[in-house]
Amino acid sequence: MSSVLESIAAVGVVPVVAVDSVEHALPLADALLEGGLPVVEVTFRTKAAADVIRLLSKERPQLIVGAGTVLSPETVQTAIGCGARFGVAPGLNPRVVKAASEAGFPFIPGIATPSEIEQGLELGCRILKFFPAGSIGGAKLLGAFSGPYKHTGIQFMPTGGVTADNLADYLRLPIVAAAGGTWIAKTADMAEGKWDAVLQRCKAAAALVKTIRGA
Ligand code: 3PG
Repeated sequence: MSSVLESIAAVGVVPVVAVDSVEHALPLADALLEGGLPVVEVTFRTKAAADVIRLLSKERPQLIVGAGTVLSPETVQTAIGCGARFGVAPGLNPRVVKAASEAGFPFIPGIATPSEIEQGLELGCRILKFFPAGSIGGAKLLGAFSGPYKHTGIQFMPTGGVTADNLADYLRLPIVAAAGGTWIAKTADMAEGKWDAVLQRCKAAAALVKTIRGA
């Protein structure tokens, strides 16, 4: 596994953000770093996304900055050009996964079924986003996937409906590398400057990772 994916797995929780303004980037980064979650997935869903990734990569190199909602090979190149260190997609598009692989860009495509898991394995993926986790069966379904696929070494990043209340259910599964979600830093909270709330959610999530993994 790439060292970036290993680092993400070591952190255990990936805050997923849709940042509306580049002015939110540094306060967000500082809350994540102080709160013990030194990783972020900046989704390509806002006009500010590319500038946010660029700024964070330059100004906060200790933060592992990734790009989310990477839906095309072109966006893979944009993400790399902005300095993103990993990419995430909601689905598994072989063209996108191959573009990332050819560029040596650690990539986490999304899956929801066994067939897609096998496609991901065939493409050489090491971590797959289990999406949308809460709607397709949650930790119970992911635990069932563990049976036939654990021995392959594949790991998962459940995302979609993960909250402070169910985070532990996912983190307890050995097949989970990290859980992702927007509950840590909601777009509205960033707009209202609620950085202390973001910080407290980071601290709570990081503490839970420690408790469950016994680190
Ligand atoms: C994603 O972008 O990965 C999901 O939309 C995040 O889902 P959540 O808002 O339920 O955390």
